[in-house]
Amino acid sequence: MFIVAGASGNVGSAAVRKLAESGAAVKALTRSSTSDKVAPLKDLANVEVVECDLTDKSALASVFAGAKGAILTYGNCKEQVEAEKNFIDCAVAAGCLFLVKIGTVRCYTAEDSPCEYARYHAEIEKHLAETAGAMKWAVLSPNWFISNHLGDVFGTLPNNVVVYPVSPDSKTSMVDTRDVGDIAAKMILASDASAYHGLKLDISGPEAVSLAQMAQLYSEALGRPVTAIKCSNDEWIAGAIGAGFQEWHARAVTTHFEKWEEGALCFPTAPEVLALAPPQRTVAAWIKEWAPRSPPPA
Ligand SMILES: NC(=O)c1ccc[n+]([C@@H]2O[C@H](COP(=O)([O-])OP(=O)(O)OC[C@H]3O[C@@H](n4cnc5c(N)ncnc54)[C@H](OP(=O)(O)O)[C@@H]3O)[C@@H](O)[C@H]2O)c1
Repeated sequence: MFIVAGASGNVGSAAVRKLAESGAAVKALTRSSTSDKVAPLKDLANVEVVECDLTDKSALASVFAGAKGAILTYGNCKEQVEAEKNFIDCAVAAGCLFLVKIGTVRCYTAEDSPCEYARYHAEIEKHLAETAGAMKWAVLSPNWFISNHLGDVFGTLPNNVVVYPVSPDSKTSMVDTRDVGDIAAKMILASDASAYHGLKLDISGPEAVSLAQMAQLYSEALGRPVTAIKCSNDEWIAGAIGAGFQEWHARAVTTHFEKWEEGALCFPTAPEVLALAPPQRTVAAWIKEWAPRSPPPA
């Protein structure tokens, strides 16, 4: 049996699907088993949706009995460090054999990173390395998620613009979260997990794409011109807060934009990941899938 934390989320739900497809028994953890996000998982064979808050360590401990592998992914929030450390502790205590943690972009994951959630990931990864004991583990470090651009689809496309604090021609090798979930699932299913033990593995999408190219793809998908515009960090933060982000989170994301502008986010996918399950979903395919769901122009 395998356990997936953050199972209703972007990466977690994809990992649950892939594990279920393989015939493995999966416990999909969520804080609310009645939420809309978790509903599609309930129809999957081999999947048990389990209501469990990772900040409640005693409830979490009981879920782990018999788990041979675990995937740890969690939303960026103030409880993230406590929740993920609890998950690691319970996995170790239950004798879980292999844990795959989803981290964030490695070039700014550090205990003194200017990005708050990257500091969280650094602290969690340190805890994992120091406390895993006999449990094997690996960290997957994905690039910018294409799904972050749902903010374009439901936010700025009705005004025919994509707006970020990044030059329109700067490129990044953004990745589809479904590819990340597939990789995590395949890794946990691998017959020899020790091949990945202790590795921190970069994951990028199959191609580097600029915002100007995305705007062109949106234009083609919508049949009207869409333009990429560079704003200031403060303008992007104000827009993100308006769209529901907490301020600390929006501020943290701007570290990512600074790295994007520097050209640091065109890094390649680790060879171990390429050999296991190379990311294949493209930005063009994602835009074809999602742009038509954008509300009509204002
Ligand atoms: N966005 C990016 O570009 C990017 C790039 C690289 C890495 N990452 C990392 O990838 C990881 C997973 O991202 P994701 O997009 O798959 O996660 P997500 O969908 O935002 O969240 C995963 C799940 O975490 C649970 N959760 C529990 N407490 C939460 C809280 N207070 N706020 C939000 N969610 C909470 C939620 O499940 P329930 O509500 O069902 O409990 C949620 O569905 C993150 O740690 C992030 O740092 C992100």
